[in-house]
Amino acid sequence: MIKSAKLKQRPLPMPGKLPHKYTISGLRKGRARVTVVTGAGIDAEAGLPTFRGDQGFYEDEEATYLASADALKAEPSRVWHWYLKRFVSYHDTHPAHSHFALAELEAELGEKFKGVITQNISGLHRKAGSQKVFEIHGCIQEMRNLQTGERQTLPKSWVESPPVDEELISWRPNVCFFGESYDEFPLPEAEEACKSCDIMLVIGTSGIVPTPILLSEMAQLSGAVVVNINPNPGEVDEVSDMSFRGTTAEYFQ
Ligand code: APR
Repeated sequence: MIKSAKLKQRPLPMPGKLPHKYTISGLRKGRARVTVVTGAGIDAEAGLPTFRGDQGFYEDEEATYLASADALKAEPSRVWHWYLKRFVSYHDTHPAHSHFALAELEAELGEKFKGVITQNISGLHRKAGSQKVFEIHGCIQEMRNLQTGERQTLPKSWVESPPVDEELISWRPNVCFFGESYDEFPLPEAEEACKSCDIMLVIGTSGIVPTPILLSEMAQLSGAVVVNINPNPGEVDEVSDMSFRGTTAEYFQ
């Protein structure tokens, strides 16, 4: 479990123009080691709903319940059928320009690129060609066997015709449901990437789920500069050295 370090209060970041060193061209030309944390805001540019805010995914209370460990335990079949419907829209979604720009940055920086830590389960970073991706909430294309723990790609055929419940509920989606720990997911690797960077970009997350906040504090404690990229003010501003008050697409243009 990550412990919040309660860092000294930092002056609030000035929105707007970032010093060149922290812009995308500055990162490309620079010698800094870079780590990136992403949330639903980057997937919004590929047409996927964010979780909160207008038309947010969790505006629908049923979705909040069905995405919980309690529902998965109490009604695995119902959760699976809801989940398979949700799977379709993700499966057919293509990465946005920002996903490809991150994959290009990784290729250009080589060893200096420490990884993309994503809360998104869409799999769009991998689809765009990113290699060092830590999916700390899992991936919608994967499932896990409840007995053996074995992981497999979720067969697309299950969408058209789900298997009988007996088979269905012997598996579970390999994503982190509300109320579950990160034990099954690459959080230790993500923490390493936070401790070994000079610049951390935090893109498109509200920080309402506190993990990005704690990862930002961990990076700052290791001497990194944290840059928040978000068109809206939010929790991450409190643990950022500076903010780019614009969209991901605007940052990468
Ligand atoms: N570029 C950058 N940021 C954007 C953009 C954009 N084009 N569009 C929206 N945003 C920002 C919003 O301002 C908001 O701060 O993206 C953020 C989305 O916040 P949430 O919907 O709360 O999503 P996220 O922070 O990723 O949620 C974290 O909560 O529900 C759980 O497991 C789920 O991974 C998810 C976690």
